[in-house]
Amino acid sequence: MFEEAQLYSPVTSDGDGVTVHLSDDHPGAGDPAYRERRNEIAALALEWQPGEPAPPVEYTEAEQEVWRTVCRELRPKHERLAIAEFVEARERLALPTDGVPSLDLVSDRLRPVTGFRYAPAAGLVPLREFYGSLSVRIFHSTQYVRHPAVPLYTPEPDIIHEVIGHGHLLATPTFSELHRLTGEATHRLHDEENLRFLSRVFWFTLEFGVVVEDGELRAYGAGILSSYGEIDEFRAMEHRPLDLAEMGTADYDITRYQPVLYRAESLDEVRELIGGFFASCTDDSIAELRERAGAPV
Ligand SMILES: [Fe+2]
Repeated sequence: MFEEAQLYSPVTSDGDGVTVHLSDDHPGAGDPAYRERRNEIAALALEWQPGEPAPPVEYTEAEQEVWRTVCRELRPKHERLAIAEFVEARERLALPTDGVPSLDLVSDRLRPVTGFRYAPAAGLVPLREFYGSLSVRIFHSTQYVRHPAVPLYTPEPDIIHEVIGHGHLLATPTFSELHRLTGEATHRLHDEENLRFLSRVFWFTLEFGVVVEDGELRAYGAGILSSYGEIDEFRAMEHRPLDLAEMGTADYDITRYQPVLYRAESLDEVRELIGGFFASCTDDSIAELRERAGAPV
């Protein structure tokens, strides 16, 4: 099911400082040192003001090791299972694989390529702000690292997901443009239910999209490309043809690998159907799609 708050652990700030509220089933829930670390990193983002350099995080050896492990595991899988634009972007950005890069380093590498830059986020950024910022090529990103007990997958978007998944997509011609168009679409939508429709289309494409390239099914979604567990599974999942009305009204569960994926037959189909939707959708056109899907309008 779709619950935007499920994607992130809530962050609160009061007289006792900043607290990230991990759910009881979070891998770090019983680890006081991890909880303290999450609080520290969230506090850095809350103190940050636009225009300042991103707050530098001194990553611990354990966090660096998670980054190195994910980079090492994903590299050969990307060669086989990611679209060519993604692999080319990885070579072009040449982000460090031996330690977590700062958000400013990611911005410095991205800006000359597609103009995108990163801004720190403590946790959940409201949908309208998160997507809306993409229109001016700003990507809100967390800075924490997933718990080391479960390096292969995280339902929470950590810096590994944000940078290895989205960062490389934001360096590609096709997907930087689709991110930007999502931002433009957000500004045209005034109905919150229609914005959620847009976010579901984003979820099933830019987060979990797969496409046929050179006769093989490959991933272009940031969620798959940043998970060295899920990337091995997507070819065996149920694949359906791209269908805006269905994607925009489908429920999903972020706590496990996605069992249903929407498959494009070519990158041209992604650019035309999904890019065309982001470029032209309005409250009226989405209301029509929702009606077609039988969703309450
Ligand atoms: Fe994401």
